[in-house]
This record gives sequence, C-alpha cells and structure tokens, in this order.
Amino acid sequence: MTHFDFADKVALVTGGASGIGLACIKTFAQAGAKVVIADRQRELAQAAIAILPASSSATYVEVDVANPDSAQAMVDAVVAKFGRLDFAVNNAGIGGNRRTSTSDYSVAAWQDMININLSGVFYCLRAEMPVMVKQGGGAIVNLASILGSRAVAGAPAYTASKHGVVGLTRAAALDHAKDGVRVNAIGPGYIETPMIAGATATAQLTTQLIARHPIGRLGKPQEIANLVAFLCSEQASFITGGYYLADGGYTAQ
Ligand code: NAI
Repeated sequence: MTHFDFADKVALVTGGASGIGLACIKTFAQAGAKVVIADRQRELAQAAIAILPASSSATYVEVDVANPDSAQAMVDAVVAKFGRLDFAVNNAGIGGNRRTSTSDYSVAAWQDMININLSGVFYCLRAEMPVMVKQGGGAIVNLASILGSRAVAGAPAYTASKHGVVGLTRAAALDHAKDGVRVNAIGPGYIETPMIAGATATAQLTTQLIARHPIGRLGKPQEIANLVAFLCSEQASFITGGYYLADGGYTAQ
C-alpha cells in the first residue's frame, strides 16, 4: 500500500502501459490521483486501465513521444479532460537489445534511440512545463538509468541518451526552479520488465546480470515507482535538479 495522498492530483506517465511506467500508474492511482497512461501500445494500456480503480478516472492517450506534435497533443488531451497536470513521469523509452560497438552502430539505430529516449523527453517537457507554470507548480520525473552516469560496452546510443536525460533534467530544473516546478531524474539499475527480456533470456545471462548488482538480485518496477512517488510528493519539496539512483549498489562499485 502506498503512503502518499495524491487526491485531486493529475498524473501523466509516458510509457505507462508496461514495466516501470505501469507501476507508477498503479502507485499514483492507489494514492488517489487521476491517472493518464500515454503510450504507443493501445491494447496493453487498455488492459491496464481495466484493473485500475474507477476513482482514478484512468485514461489512455495514444502518443509517440518522438513526435513533438504528438507529445503536445498528449498534454492538450490531459488538460482538456482534467483541467490540470500535477505530475509528469517521462518514462517512455527503448532499450535496444543488440550489443553493437560504436564503430558498427547504424545511423538509423542511433537516431531512433536518441529520438525516443532523449528528444522524446524534451518534447514532453516543453509541452508539460507551461501547464505546470501556469497553474503555479508541479513535479516532473524523467527516467534516466545507471547509464546516465556510467557506460557499458556495446550501448553507445542508450548511454548517450540517458546521459542526455540527466543533463536536460538539470537544465530544465534550473529554468523553472522559481516557477514551483521541480524536475528530477532517476537512475534505476536493471529492473524486471519486458525491456530486459533479452538480457535475461537464459539462466546464465540472468546470473551474470544479477552479479553486477551487489544487493544480489534485479530490481522490481514497484521499487522505482516508490521513488517516483516520493519525488512527486510534498515530502520532496526541496528536491529539484537531482539525479537519484535506485540500483542495488551497482554504481557504488
Ligand atoms: P518497457 O519496455 O516495459 O516499457 C516501456 C514503455 O514505453 C512501453 O509500454 C512502450 O510502448 C513505451 N514506449 C516506447 N517508445 C515509445 C514512444 N516512442 N512513444 C510512446 N511510448 C513509447 O520498459 P521499462 O523497463 O519499464 O522502461 C521504462 C523506462 O525506464 C525507460 O526509459 C528505460 O530506459 C528506463 N530504464 C529501465 C531499466 C530496466 O532495467 N528495465 C533500467 C534503467 C532505466
């Protein structure tokens, strides 16, 4: 059970149909918020909505965050339905399963990754921010990764995109600190979601991945949603421009 009281709050989560985003949606809904799942997977989103409490007025908005017009239309739809936007979790992203070195990385794969994981966060931020500024406050959490401050071989685009999200978070937080809008980034270790299916495809791969986490296991989506909810809550009222790890000790090594 959640300890937060988000009654009368409106929460938007991109990529909210799956994994970490869905855990955020459930957490906001349990805390009494109205929730909006923004995703490009319609059927998954609708299945999620069916299990959410009616009090959450759970709503689906189809979006491709890599398209700036689509990101703007997403926020316009939220405001048209609920009249406000209190929390935005810019979480939609892709992992890219193939391990490819920088010299072999295709331009198309690079552009796809940067368009979704980095530009997508910017397009969402620039649509969300004016609504929050106008209403006098809000909280935004961007999903970076441990690869927002570290690198792994064979993932140049993902690593660059997540470093970019951390920098963008800091810049946006400074731009709007006096507007009452707090912006933070999160750096999860490996979390059990469909995104890491390739990295856990065999028992051997899973063991190797777990070994990189001193805590001795992978993370669960709810463990990230807990941090997201905290950063959105009033308890985090002095926290902006930060980058917070939830990684089972991965980056402490
Ligand atoms: P997931 O694959 O379970 O969910 C991602 C969601 O984003 C999906 O529902 C997908 O449809 C949506 N999405 C992807 N591209 C989109 C687009 N262009 N427009 C709209 N929706 C789009 O992945 P997961 O694991 O829940 O990841 C969520 C975020 O957390 C991502 O940004 C990811 O990079 C980040 N993250 C995940 C980690 C993990 O180990 N699972 C670790 C660190 C960060």
